[in-house]
Amino acid sequence: VRVLSFYNLKGGVGKTTAAVNIAWEAASAGTPTLLWDLDPQAASSWYLGHDAGLESSAKKLIRGRQPIGSEVCRTPWHGLDLLPGDMGYRHMDLLIDKSGGKTDLLQQLIRPFAEQYALLILDCPPNFSRLSDNLFQVSDMLAVPVIPSPLALRAWEQLTTYFRDQGLPQKRLSPFLSMVDRRRTLHRQWTDPDNKILKRQLEQWIPYASQIEQMGTRRAPVATFAPGSAAASAFHGLWTGIDARLKRLPQRNGI
Ligand SMILES: Nc1ncnc2c1ncn2[C@@H]1O[C@H](COP(=O)(O)OP(=O)(O)OP(=O)(O)O)[C@@H](O)[C@H]1O
Ligand SMILES: [Mg+2]
Repeated sequence: VRVLSFYNLKGGVGKTTAAVNIAWEAASAGTPTLLWDLDPQAASSWYLGHDAGLESSAKKLIRGRQPIGSEVCRTPWHGLDLLPGDMGYRHMDLLIDKSGGKTDLLQQLIRPFAEQYALLILDCPPNFSRLSDNLFQVSDMLAVPVIPSPLALRAWEQLTTYFRDQGLPQKRLSPFLSMVDRRRTLHRQWTDPDNKILKRQLEQWIPYASQIEQMGTRRAPVATFAPGSAAASAFHGLWTGIDARLKRLPQRNGI
């Protein structure tokens, strides 16, 4: 199974939005896909129509007391399953610590999915933590949404520096521009194809679009209720770019 994480140290940059839409794109292209919502906010679970309990199984699951497969839910979309998030995930770091601070806890947890899914998408909470260290180890690719701004550039550079210092493979980092508003000068500069600001930047960027905001009320991926919109075609293009890179990267963990 390929592991694709949507990650950024910064909050509110479009990780969840992209995770949900890319998961739908992959599934509708025929890739059996599981989205694992690792965020206690459980936003991607919400977007996929799941009403999470306040605190349910995350703890048991992380401690290995419950087979992880038993928590998987179907979504209304063929080929797309969900491992829902809940408030229990706020203890994730503590639990990783208790298990000896292992950086392969996630890898152990996802092994049972290797047979059933071709793609595992992880929607991550925004921080540097034990959990993110686990993610960095297990992910074939980290897709990093970046809103054009100097501070966002700084956060991106912190991430690449961290990767370099930890001896992690930087080629697994794939940034893309998110929430782009072409009326703004800086956004136009950053989307100029001759002027790529971020190293290994994916070509496709995601526009700031009202259809994307509507996901909150529709509780569905954009392409299901606004097919043919600029937002839907941007996610389609983003998936094409990610898929091509994933195929070129050697698989990390052989799981
Ligand atoms: N391209 C876009 N156009 C318009 N609104 C967007 C776009 N992308 C995200 N949003 C809105 O911005 C908010 C934050 O997006 P999202 O939840 O995807 O970010 P996040 O990085 O996952 O946040 P967090 O760090 O809290 O997990 C949401 O309300 C979402 O609807
Ligand atoms: Mg999120």
